[in-house]
Amino acid sequence: MNELLKEIDERRARRALKSEKIDDAVVQRIMTAATYAPSCFNSQPWRFMVVSEEEELARLHESLSGGNYWAKKAPLMIVLATKMEFDAKLSDNRDYALFGCGLAAANLMLQATNEGLYAHPMAGFDPLVVKEAFGIPDDYIVITLIAIGYPGSLEGLSDKHVDSEKSERSRKPESEVICRQQWNFA
Ligand SMILES: Cc1cc2nc3c(=O)[nH]c(=O)nc-3n(C[C@H](O)[C@H](O)[C@H](O)COP(=O)(O)O)c2cc1C
Repeated sequence: MNELLKEIDERRARRALKSEKIDDAVVQRIMTAATYAPSCFNSQPWRFMVVSEEEELARLHESLSGGNYWAKKAPLMIVLATKMEFDAKLSDNRDYALFGCGLAAANLMLQATNEGLYAHPMAGFDPLVVKEAFGIPDDYIVITLIAIGYPGSLEGLSDKHVDSEKSERSRKPESEVICRQQWNFA
């Protein structure tokens, strides 16, 4: 599909990462892109920890769930955390901190795609291990770890993940998630 922005079309949560280091200037652009995201009242609820040193990466590896073994090859991991009080809390459960962080993460991933990188967000990690390893205060929500690296080989990936590397994007039919002019969802 070529009517969409190239980065939106090309971005996929791929797992075949190369361990090759990423230049500081590239990392800087990715992080700046993340911070250019919009947020409610410009609250900027996101807090990022950029991790690229071997010892610190190893500490993050301890937190990964078994299925995320492939992320250990990533030369760069981003920890994204927030507190609900960092953003607006409006009527009817509209707490915006996670929303703002999601927008920042999307910017980060699209900039990474533009730089020729894979950027793969994960929920499969133990946040308490991450907090303990880095002294992150208890009241933060560690939302995601994002594994980032250049495209690498399939070596070391499980059969399931090899298949997934070649898979087409899979999405619900638009009729299930988009309605027009009237509310159509139960
Ligand atoms: C919040 C969030 C958590 C995710 N957690 C994991 C994870 O722990 N491990 C994993 O391999 N992929 C994870 N993913 C990637 C999704 O599985 C992937 O984005 C989805 O299957 C759609 O594929 P696509 O991004 O290639 O379009 C996560 C994605 C998001 C947004």
